[in-house]
Amino acid sequence: MLQNNEVILKHPIIEHKLSILRDKKTGTKEFREVIGELSMLLCYEALSDAQLEELEIETPIARMKGKRLNENNFVFLPILRAGTGMIDGVLKIVPNAKIGHIGMYRDEETFKPHSYYYKVPKGIEDKEVIVLDPMLATGGSIIDTIGKLKEQNAKKIKVLCIISAPEGLKAVHNKYPEVKIYCTAVDEKLNENAYIVPGLGDAGDRIFGTK
Ligand code: PRP
Ligand code: URA
Repeated sequence: MLQNNEVILKHPIIEHKLSILRDKKTGTKEFREVIGELSMLLCYEALSDAQLEELEIETPIARMKGKRLNENNFVFLPILRAGTGMIDGVLKIVPNAKIGHIGMYRDEETFKPHSYYYKVPKGIEDKEVIVLDPMLATGGSIIDTIGKLKEQNAKKIKVLCIISAPEGLKAVHNKYPEVKIYCTAVDEKLNENAYIVPGLGDAGDRIFGTK
């Protein structure tokens, strides 16, 4: 389903896995595994427009023209902490992609993001950058991240998230309508603490077992 520049993956397996994530009784091990699986599926979908190069290959029977993805063209950029939980899954799709890191936390009162770390591979301006964060709530963290990437002249940017709020999607789209966002669910709303309802709680705490 495509609305504005959002791709919402709809599939019975995705709904099944999302219910596991949302359930507060799901433990750390399973939570991590399912974040990885959904991230892999999101990445697969996000690469459906990937450009391929032709190459000559020889099967045991004959020579033929095959296709290959130049994995060097891709950079995954997880937003710390929770985004790092998505790395294993996306690397199953593009194992040789480069990886940057952006450190950000949300102020508990203002809900504004604060950036504390930023390190991306060289040559970002010519690569496809895929930002990873399981939760897109107010959209502040994604908007700041895209802003930093644009300062460095990154031109091809996509965002993968597991659950988003309509408010956050709208905010990102208003600011950066050209950036495509892939997610597995758009929930109802944000609550007074800017948490996604019904959501899955605090993704970072559930991935790292910190609460
Ligand atoms: C969470 C989440 C996003 C951000 C989403 O991170 O992983 O990065 O909040 O909120 P926003 O759309 O309103 O900006 P948090 O700041 O809790 O840090 P953590 O990953 O270290 O737990
Ligand atoms: N961050 C989370 O981890 N969960 C939310 O619902 C909102 C922001």
